Amino acid sequence: MSTIPEEKTLDNSLQLLREGFPFLHSRFQRFQSDIFKTRLMMQNVICLHGEEATKLFYDPEKFMRLGAIPKRIQKTLMGENGIQTLDGEEHRKRKAMFMSLMTRPQVTKVANLAADYWWSAIGKWEKMDQVKLFDEVQDLLCRVACQWSGVPLPEKDVRKRAQDFGDMVDGFGGVGPRHWKGKKARRRGEKWIMEFVEDVRAGKIYVAEDTPARTILFYRDTNGKLLDTYIAAVELMNILRPIVAIATYITFGALAMHTYPECRQKLQANEDNYAELFVQEVRRFYPFGPFLGNRVRQDFEWRGHHFKKGTLVFLDMYGALHDPKIWEHPDDFRPERFRTWDESPYNFIPQGGGDHYTGHRCAGERITIEVMKVAAIFMTHFMDYQLPPQDLSFSLVRMPTLPKSGFVMRNVRRIQIPV
Ligand code: HEM
Repeated sequence: MSTIPEEKTLDNSLQLLREGFPFLHSRFQRFQSDIFKTRLMMQNVICLHGEEATKLFYDPEKFMRLGAIPKRIQKTLMGENGIQTLDGEEHRKRKAMFMSLMTRPQVTKVANLAADYWWSAIGKWEKMDQVKLFDEVQDLLCRVACQWSGVPLPEKDVRKRAQDFGDMVDGFGGVGPRHWKGKKARRRGEKWIMEFVEDVRAGKIYVAEDTPARTILFYRDTNGKLLDTYIAAVELMNILRPIVAIATYITFGALAMHTYPECRQKLQANEDNYAELFVQEVRRFYPFGPFLGNRVRQDFEWRGHHFKKGTLVFLDMYGALHDPKIWEHPDDFRPERFRTWDESPYNFIPQGGGDHYTGHRCAGERITIEVMKVAAIFMTHFMDYQLPPQDLSFSLVRMPTLPKSGFVMRNVRRIQIPV
């Protein structure tokens, strides 16, 4: 039996907050190993890295989500007892419901809505002195998310709701005020969506047949019952919030176009589906989620190491996207690398790995890609803009992170399509 390299420490939680995204990576380097043990949140944690480890991590016989997601994350980012915390048959059935919302026609619907809102947003931005892309795209995507889902969103509430969804995401890596802000935003959001759930179920609000809201609100669980009001709200928010969160990737995409002007030119030509390669590289290159958690379901051995039932196990997401064993010159921004990518579900994991239907991999990956493509095309085909001096750097310590200025543009002009 081999011993897992171990960091001798009482607890490393504060160190994780101090180091941010590179926390796991620097230890894999130090131990020269794809596995090590540390202590976080006052418990032993085994940390794993690499493609083989990702295959292991997504084996439902060996791992479960029960008890793997800290309450502080549930109280900000994702809500309590939603799909992310389920295992077995209950997870499989509920995931099938989510995946039924991700068909090609539904994804196209979302992308078309995004295009409509981009077109009108550019008209609005033309009249503004300066435009902070991140905030504006959050608003735009909040409109898209609500319209697609069937949730009414009065115009006066757009900023408030978009900001709240943003704060829920921003709260996941924060302590103190940032965490409290995330919690408050979640409570407000849950109140809003729970009232909506009750009104729809009481027949006071009608939602159309083919909308995600109807699917989620009238979904019957493994015991044949409707989800209770709170869980239904959590699950509906599990599609609203992450659509708004795509604003982070879109802002990083704008940064990439600015930093690598040759990519901007290639987007303008958009030959051989270049926009798809570009957005994949944005999802690989820029940081969003640091790692994922699971608990050992039952004792097992892997590569001579013992995994004890109940142990918390983290999978290195950020490090996997920058691993030279997987990506040649990982610190170069090279969209073309995705032309020859083998499409393995275990080596490119910005939104989780494994199978979308049977595992916990992100249900909205295709929506994310298509909405990012719409943004990349609009920013290179249908608008001109200038950048005033600003701080576009981003911290690797803060989780989640963003270009500090939020990407401020001036002199936005709509480019008319020649007829
Ligand atoms: C799960 C990231 C967009 C819906 C996840 C997971 C990650 C993730 C890391 C967990 C994977 C795992 O546990 O193995 C992201 C990022 C997004 C994004 C970075 C873009 C900014 C979306 C969108 C939707 C969505 C647009 C829906 C419209 C979900 C759902 C789950 C999930 C329902 C839970 C899946 C499960 O537990 O089975 N996402 N996501 N996400 N995501 Fe996303």
